[in-house]
Amino acid sequence: MRVIRSVKTMQRLVAKARRAGKRVGFVPTMGALHEGHASLLRRCRRENDIVVLSIFVNPKQFGLKEDFAKYPRRERDDKKLAKREKVDIIFVPSVKEMYPEGYLTYIEVEKITKVLCGKSRPGHFRGVTTVVGKLLNIVMPDALYLGQKDAQQAAVLAWMVRDLNFPVSVRICSTVRETGGLAMSSRNEYLTADQRREAAVLYRSLKEARQSVIAGNHSVAATIGKMRSRIRRESSGRIDYIECVAADTLAPLKRIQGKIIIALAVWFGKTRLIDNIIVRA
Ligand code: PAF
Repeated sequence: MRVIRSVKTMQRLVAKARRAGKRVGFVPTMGALHEGHASLLRRCRRENDIVVLSIFVNPKQFGLKEDFAKYPRRERDDKKLAKREKVDIIFVPSVKEMYPEGYLTYIEVEKITKVLCGKSRPGHFRGVTTVVGKLLNIVMPDALYLGQKDAQQAAVLAWMVRDLNFPVSVRICSTVRETGGLAMSSRNEYLTADQRREAAVLYRSLKEARQSVIAGNHSVAATIGKMRSRIRRESSGRIDYIECVAADTLAPLKRIQGKIIIALAVWFGKTRLIDNIIVRA
């Protein structure tokens, strides 16, 4: 397993592999790797000759009052997990390597970045698309692996890839959950034991909503109303949003129909958790 910190070296290595006819798969991360990342790496391993993992805590996707400084960084443990999952190359650039002095260029996907998390995290998706656009130009992968847990991020990046003709196929992989149902996330480690137990209500409420839609309830207001009550009743979580949106455009729905995503963001103390479920009405 090679650890690369320079953009030029990374580009040279991948170009050589591609010339040799190798298929390159790419898993971008901000590190603090967990089983959710491991499942992306496993699929990437199965489907490609070369597996590239990037670890970069991207300052441009954090708001001024967000957790950039305290975001968990532990390269040593991450390397162990990467080795276990048979990663070939880890790309770990510095902030200066990615955004040298005088950096001026950004990628902005419109409209679908303004709903859901885009409302409470202005500028977040601009940071995500900019860094992933850069990483795609550096790693030049055939396939990009993203988690369904970050449903809006996956939709925004798929839109960017399509609109800007990046020659890569986007593979969205299922959310990996802890035993109680809490979606795996590097931010779960901010939670106290009580908050972690309480946060399991998020998945319970999503599953209940899916059941009710499948049983024929097509009212967005009733679905969201039930979820709100359950989360309030069973936890101390403060709801940022619960929404039903169209799975492809993320447009908010008045009535549930077709393939939809029920998505939520809820604060437990100072930690904001997101989760979602896909439902075919
Ligand atoms: O999901 C993440 O970890 C990040 O948003 C990503 C895609 C690596 C971009 O920094």
